[in-house]
Amino acid sequence: MITHFLRNHIIGDIKIVNLGEMAFICLYNRCLAIFLICIAFGYTSSSDLEIKVNPPEDFEIVDPGYLGFLYLQWQPPVSLENFKACAVEYELKFRSIGGGRWKTVITKNLRYKYGFDLNKGIEAKIHTLLPKQCTNGSEVRSLWSEATYWMPEQGNLETKIKDMDCIYYNWQNLLCSWEPGKGVHFDANYYLFYWYEGLDHALQCTDYIKANGKNVGCRFPQLESPDYKDFYVCVNGSSESKSIRSSYFIFQLQNIVKPLPPDYLSINVKNLLEVNLQWSIPRGSIPAKCFIYEIEFTEGDIAWVTTTFDNEMCIMRTSNGSHELCFSTRSKVNIYCADDGIWSEWSNEKCWKGMNSKNSS
Ligand SMILES: *[C@@H]1O[C@H](CO)[C@@H](O)[C@H](O)[C@H]1NC(C)=O
Ligand SMILES: *[C@@H]1O[C@H](CO)[C@@H](O)[C@H](O)[C@H]1NC(C)=O
Ligand SMILES: *[C@@H]1O[C@H](CO)[C@@H](O)[C@H](O)[C@H]1NC(C)=O
Repeated sequence: MITHFLRNHIIGDIKIVNLGEMAFICLYNRCLAIFLICIAFGYTSSSDLEIKVNPPEDFEIVDPGYLGFLYLQWQPPVSLENFKACAVEYELKFRSIGGGRWKTVITKNLRYKYGFDLNKGIEAKIHTLLPKQCTNGSEVRSLWSEATYWMPEQGNLETKIKDMDCIYYNWQNLLCSWEPGKGVHFDANYYLFYWYEGLDHALQCTDYIKANGKNVGCRFPQLESPDYKDFYVCVNGSSESKSIRSSYFIFQLQNIVKPLPPDYLSINVKNLLEVNLQWSIPRGSIPAKCFIYEIEFTEGDIAWVTTTFDNEMCIMRTSNGSHELCFSTRSKVNIYCADDGIWSEWSNEKCWKGMNSKNSS
């Protein structure tokens, strides 16, 4: 049966088969199978086998002391001579240890800078890429080089500060406040350091807010062009008896702006149905185009809230003019100037007391 099968399907013209020949045929059959597999999976793989590239050398994560802004750096792989004419690339992947997605970067440089959350460790890996044009075939990758980095963890979690809150008042004055950690000794105190691109090194707070002898906040000095950049903050601490766990924060100042409320509200009743509301642009240096306003309007028992980008608004009255009208407004930086913001306090309420009383604006 087997020989018949072989004869008809594989070898065709063998007529007589003894046991020895049978073994040879089976072997031959296997070679043929392997040969066919080679064909099926392409000729290019044979040239790839010859082209190998080493991973980058001396891959490391360097902390320049910028409170989270780290350098991932490496050297070219050894024995790269064969590819001198070739622009070697590197594929870099990194993430916080214990989860999160890998962020991937492809670069020809030997250094990549990135802002990391130092509350967690960091893991990174890199390999060399030879682009297609260098190999006459498909892209060739090296094995990975790996590196990790984490700040030495001292003190237990309870000793960290709590409820950190930073507000950039009027796009001008930065203030951060926090609560001391639990179970810290009376001698413990906290210190705030900050850095952003443009500073030579991390600076310590120069004007602490204190409560019961401990630092619980910081009034920052006037900062020079700190917006639209990552702003790194570390609050660490010291205590004779117990180490204190450091906390790290990254934010962008334009996203934590709390403006002043608008003032000088006015109500201009044009006729029985139409009313014009106006308010002044909040004082300070925030450009007028950067505001959004929320309006709270009441007319008798009816109240509603709306938002607008302008500093005035025309409304149609719902009743026929016998009621008192009141409104107040508050401001926030809008989406054209920042990704986020903090609403100002509400302005004082402005009211108009009907046709009989004088226009009170
Ligand atoms: C690619 O092909 C060209 C021309 O066929 C040849 O000269 C060159 O050496 C090849 N390069 C590699 C890396 O195999
Ligand atoms: C707090 O952090 C700053 C900046 O990294 C560092 O210079 C300082 O020594 C640290 N202080 C303590 C008590 O760990
Ligand atoms: C307001 O409208 C109601 C119903 O339309 C009417 O009965 C009332 O007299 C009006 N009041 C004034 C002051 O015009």
